[in-house]
Amino acid sequence: SQVPMAVNEPVNSYAPGSHEVKSLISTYKTMWKESIEIPMIIGGKAIKTAEEVKLYSPQDHQHSVGFYHKGDMSHVEQAIESALKAKEQWNKLGWEHRAAIFLKAADLVAGPYRDRLNAATMIGQSKNVHQAEIDAACEFIDFLRFNVEFMTEMYSEQPISDNGIWNRSEYRPLEGFCFAVTPFNFTAISGNLPSCMAMLGNVVVWKPSDKQIYSAHVIMEIFREAGLPDGVINMIFTDGKETAEKVLAHPDFAGLHFTGSTAVFQGMWKMIGNNIHTYKTYPRIVGETGGKDFIMVHPSANAQAVATAMVRGAFEYQGQKCSAASRAYIPQSLWNEVKDIVGQQLKSIKIGSPEDPSNFVNAVIDKNSFEKCKGYIERAEKSDVAEVVFGGTCDDSKGWFVHPTVILTSNPQYESMVEEIFGPILTVFVYEDSEWTNTLKIVDQTSPYSLTGSIFAQDRYAVSEAYNALENAAGNFYINDKPTGAVVGQQPFGGARASGTNDKAGSKMNLMRWVSVRSVKETF
Ligand code: ALA
Repeated sequence: SQVPMAVNEPVNSYAPGSHEVKSLISTYKTMWKESIEIPMIIGGKAIKTAEEVKLYSPQDHQHSVGFYHKGDMSHVEQAIESALKAKEQWNKLGWEHRAAIFLKAADLVAGPYRDRLNAATMIGQSKNVHQAEIDAACEFIDFLRFNVEFMTEMYSEQPISDNGIWNRSEYRPLEGFCFAVTPFNFTAISGNLPSCMAMLGNVVVWKPSDKQIYSAHVIMEIFREAGLPDGVINMIFTDGKETAEKVLAHPDFAGLHFTGSTAVFQGMWKMIGNNIHTYKTYPRIVGETGGKDFIMVHPSANAQAVATAMVRGAFEYQGQKCSAASRAYIPQSLWNEVKDIVGQQLKSIKIGSPEDPSNFVNAVIDKNSFEKCKGYIERAEKSDVAEVVFGGTCDDSKGWFVHPTVILTSNPQYESMVEEIFGPILTVFVYEDSEWTNTLKIVDQTSPYSLTGSIFAQDRYAVSEAYNALENAAGNFYINDKPTGAVVGQQPFGGARASGTNDKAGSKMNLMRWVSVRSVKETF
């Protein structure tokens, strides 16, 4: 192949005492104190408004790290106009030039912006050094580089000629503008959604989560420094529902790239349906939403591997990955051993601010999340069919800290076994070893979601049984590994059922959703 292969960005280890960790923590401390002012970016201009909203860090709800300028519906209109105005020039640039801008952005993240983007993610979203590094640095870089590789493959397709006839496929951007709506929990996703659409020649209105504004601002700095022309990506901080109503009623709306909650995505899909006669073209709809991700354990599994997957899969980034393990099914014969190892591992885990890199668990994103977790814990403590076996402490004296919590239930339909919590709570159901086949059915049918899941077994036939029984239960299926941490270019990410349209972030399939193909047959 003539296409240069993208290579995954190596993960920096930030070893204690290393130059890298000192540099990152010193950047964090400087940014913590500086009180940043964050404007919207529309048509390349910094837009300031009278509505200044203070930004607080989840690890210290009394400490403001700066403020952002909130916009209204006039800014949404301006963003759409700016996008449409930028479109013609952006397309004329040619795909190699568009690719170069995003490859340069990847290099900026890998080099001069690495500390700043990681620190913004640590401050704004309460990720520890390692969780910030695998997200804001490595995964974001990988998205940019792999998407350029996929795009290059697409545009490098050879025309087919046959006896005086020349056939070719022209990959053109969608007719109109695209809308990116991004979540708080991954800086990489928030950078990927607008950029993968833009690199294909689309123009974008981007509304990041109001809980991810600090790192979204740094991403915009990077795109601008990389040479992204004005108006190609317009970043607005506006009310979510009103913005959706406005954007999705516009005749030039051509595509939605969404990651966030199931309810919001379904609401937007309905709005699109209601407006279907308004549009010039049928819009593309791509969404990645919730999950109720499982760990299913066979009696032949290795207890140590299961326990480690439970702790890492459920509690890294406080369980706020859409892929996080939140329900586990353990056979009776393994439970005592698994429980002991989980207990030992949890004892060694430190909880606190990301400023100390040895803190494994940091704060949950906000008060709502804190209260939600607390509610599940309190109800489990009072329940006849559930008990809290580890954790359960919630401390909001400084930040929104919820200790890693394991709930044990005798009811596989217990609320925390079924509902998405998006916090550091893992619920365990212990099944009789002889009930393996029935329990596979329960795993498949308990939740409307189908995002990620893990099966643990050393018996290879049991792996195959689970593989078949859970065919539709997870878009990302792991055998003897935790269900989080998909790597771009290795495990394209996304799920079906209530978890989304399964268009796999970081894949050629995803990019194909943002082009409108013209097939050209030319006869000489
Ligand atoms: N892509 C992220 C993961 O796999 C959500 O954990």
